[in-house]
Amino acid sequence: MRHGIGIFAALAACALGAGTTLAATNGDLKSEGPTQPAKLQDGQYTDKNGDPTYHVTNGGKTVDWYTMSGYVRYNSNCIVCHGPDGMGSTYAPSLVDALKGMDYAHFAGVVVGGKKDVNASQELVMPAFGDNRNVMCYLPDIYTYLRARSDGALGRNRPSDHEPKPAAFTKAEDACMK
Ligand code: HEC
Repeated sequence: MRHGIGIFAALAACALGAGTTLAATNGDLKSEGPTQPAKLQDGQYTDKNGDPTYHVTNGGKTVDWYTMSGYVRYNSNCIVCHGPDGMGSTYAPSLVDALKGMDYAHFAGVVVGGKKDVNASQELVMPAFGDNRNVMCYLPDIYTYLRARSDGALGRNRPSDHEPKPAAFTKAEDACMK
């Protein structure tokens, strides 16, 4: 029995250890709401509709890899118009607000094809990013990050910790950027 107790103690210590990030296993999860994870596959969480979604734990401090990646990509491609942390600017709307209830297909449609508000007194243009791999290869990531912001699961500024980078992410990234 010594052996069994030893394993149990090690698991308990691991679960309680501050700052440790456990790699969760693939499978179905008990979804607690429309934007909450219903499935985990290779480090990527999806909701019950199959849309990418975030996994924020540790009191808002730890995020899944895709949310972290989305934060980085947002800051290099979208921040100039949509402002820091998705809060909006005088030129472009807040994506924290816009993402409320916006599914992935709609989001992807706007980012791929762009959008032009013809009724505004000032002509507002959302550029089409369909040919920009620095955006297209990370589209689910950016959506995931903005969704976490929109739901209030994630505060402003850079997330302090993240789940491990999945091997599947690196593989898909390499294939997409080629
Ligand atoms: C050059 C400035 C600019 C950049 C860069 C930009 N956007 Fe926009 N975006 C806009 C403007 C302006 C609008 C509003 C267009 C309208 O109302 O027709 C908009 C609208 C949107 C909308 C629709 C909001 C709604 O309420 O329907 C989404 C989603 C969006 N942007 C996502 C992004 C993402 C993601 C990025 C980065 C990959 C990005 N944008 C980069 C200017 C920009």
